[in-house]
Amino acid sequence: MSFQSKIKTIEWVNNVSRMVDQTLIPYEYKMVDIKSADEMFDAIRTMIVRGAPAIGIAGAHGMALAAMEVASKSADKSEFIEKLQKYAQYLKSSRPTAVNLMWAVDRQLELAQKSQGTPEQIVRILIENGIRMENEDIEINKKIGDYGAQLVKKGATILTHCNAGALATVGYGTALGVVRSAFANDSSIKVFADETRPRQQGARITTFELKMDGIPVTLITDGMCGYFMNKGMIDMVVVGADRIAANGDTANKIGTYTVAIAAKYHNVPFYIAAPLSTIDTNIQSGSEIPIEERDKEEVTHINGKRICAEGVDVINPGFDVTPNELITGIITEKGVLYPPYSESIKKAFEC
Ligand code: MRU
Repeated sequence: MSFQSKIKTIEWVNNVSRMVDQTLIPYEYKMVDIKSADEMFDAIRTMIVRGAPAIGIAGAHGMALAAMEVASKSADKSEFIEKLQKYAQYLKSSRPTAVNLMWAVDRQLELAQKSQGTPEQIVRILIENGIRMENEDIEINKKIGDYGAQLVKKGATILTHCNAGALATVGYGTALGVVRSAFANDSSIKVFADETRPRQQGARITTFELKMDGIPVTLITDGMCGYFMNKGMIDMVVVGADRIAANGDTANKIGTYTVAIAAKYHNVPFYIAAPLSTIDTNIQSGSEIPIEERDKEEVTHINGKRICAEGVDVINPGFDVTPNELITGIITEKGVLYPPYSESIKKAFEC
C-alpha cells in the first residue's frame, strides 16, 4: 500500500478541516481538526499545513469555515458576502508567496457571489466545492506525475529541493508525483533530497514520505548539490513551485535558485512540476512575486536550540525566484511546457 493511499493530507470531515500536522513530522504523524477561519489562518501561518497546493485547499476550507461562521449572523445575502470578502482578504494574508492560496480563496468567494439561495445554502455549496477541489488536486498530481515520468531516464537519480510531495498537496505530490510515477515504471530510480534549511522540509518531510513508499532516498545538505552534480551523480532536478509568472520565472523554496544555477553549469536538466493553479498570469515576471520574510528564529535555532552567536544579524526570505532561462521545462497537468514560456503558458490555459 502506498503512502497516503487512504489518508489525505487535508480533508473536509464532519464540518471541520482535518489535516496532518506537518510541524511534527518525522516524530509524529498526527491529524488535527481546524474548526474556524481564525484557526485556519494560524495553521497556514505556522505551517501546520504547507506546500502550495495544500495551502490552496486550506484556503478553500477556510472560506467554508468562514461562511459557516457568518451565515448565522447575517441578515441577508449582501451582508453575508460583505463579511465573506473580509475573511477572504484575511485568509489570503496568512502567507504571501504561494498563489494557490489566492486562487482557491478567490474561487470560493466568486462561487459564493454568483450562487443563488440563502447564506445556509451557500455554505453547503462552498463545502461541496472544497471537497471537489481536494479530489481534483489528486487527479491533477497524477497527471503531472505521468507526464513527468516520461522525462525520467532508466535508473536516473533525481535531485529535489524542499517537499513537493503528497504532504505538500492533498495527495501524490507534484515533484514527488513525478518520482512516484517514474518509480512505478522503474524501481531502479533514486532520489537525492536537499535538507532545505531553515525549516528542513527535505530532511523532515521528503525523506519521511519516500521512505514510507520504499523509494530509495539519500539526504544531502543544501550546499552539497554542486559537488554531486560535478561527480555526474545527478541526472535531473525536479522541484515544485509556489508561484510561476507569465514568462515562466518561478518562485520556490529558498535555495532552489542556487540548485538551478548549479544544474545549468553542469548541464543537468532542471524541471518544475506544478499545476496550472500555481501559474499567476496576472504578473509578467518573477520580480513581481511577493517573497515571504519569516521569523529570524527559523535560522538561529534548530529544534528550539540556538546554533549561532547570540544577537547575530539574520535575514530569512522563505522563497527565491529561478529565472525562466534556467528552467528546462514546466511539468503541468496539461503536459510539459517548454520555452518560450510566455507562449507555452498562454497555450496551456487556452486548451
Ligand atoms: O514553505 P513551504 O514548505 O510551504 O514551501 C513549500 C515549497 O516551496 C514547495 O516546493 C512548493 O510549495 C510546491 S509544493 C507541491
